Amino acid sequence: MRVAGAGAGAGARYDAIAERYVALVASHSIPHDTAIPALLDLLGPVAGRPVLDLACGTGQLSRALAAAGAQVVGIDLSAGLLHHAWEQERAAPLGIASRRDDAQCLGSLPDASVDAAACCLGLTDIDDLDALYHAVARVLRPGGVLAFCINHPAAPATSGDGTLTLQPVPIPYLRQRRWRSGNPASVRGLLPTWHRPLAVYLNAALAAGLWLTPPEPLRELPAPAHVLARSPAYRQHPYLFAARLRKPA
Ligand SMILES: C[S@@+](CC[C@H](N)C(=O)[O-])C[C@H]1O[C@@H](n2cnc3c(N)ncnc32)[C@H](O)[C@@H]1O
Repeated sequence: MRVAGAGAGAGARYDAIAERYVALVASHSIPHDTAIPALLDLLGPVAGRPVLDLACGTGQLSRALAAAGAQVVGIDLSAGLLHHAWEQERAAPLGIASRRDDAQCLGSLPDASVDAAACCLGLTDIDDLDALYHAVARVLRPGGVLAFCINHPAAPATSGDGTLTLQPVPIPYLRQRRWRSGNPASVRGLLPTWHRPLAVYLNAALAAGLWLTPPEPLRELPAPAHVLARSPAYRQHPYLFAARLRKPA
């Protein structure tokens, strides 16, 4: 269900913590080191192709895509985070065009205008997942792919400060709801995000006409060594979840 005004609210949420989010990115506390390689692998070759970075934030994925040769358009609701993406692009241009837009409608993009779309750690912040998938299905060309990566919904909350405080899985797992981690040093402690069971992420995409196609469209990613060193508990838990969906050709 689309919540009236939800888009504007989501942008304002990140504007309020933009400087802290930028600091967490700079200190490598956001799991980009695991998420971005997984997304690049799921997307396959992107050189010379128009690729959309959904909920691009400060543009870490945008820059990795552009370094791989993609023609990148990034969209996000938060002017505060986009400002940092623009600053990086000004300092070291890679040809990235990022702008303010709502991922739930993608009003700035024409139909069938991108070969691929990717969303790095953003779907847990999207209020209306159905609307997002329908918007993505509209802007993808036939045969185009969407890859996304999220914190695994069955994982404890990751911290952002190196002194990991494991939170239990949000209970009950099967109920969609916004929740907030008890760790104020983590993004999910700074802002409430959506908890959704994995099946919700996949069923909503399938309902929007996006398909799961081989090879290996679903990935449950373990924590990397530096996270395990801080938090051995991750040996018993998944860390991130990534998926690739395809618009039929
Ligand atoms: C956890 S951050 C991830 C940012 C970035 N992809 C990264 O990897 O650092 C979630 C992002 O989702 C954005 N966002 C939330 N709702 C949105 C919407 N409806 N449309 C576009 N961006 C949205 C927020 O502004 C924020 O930048």
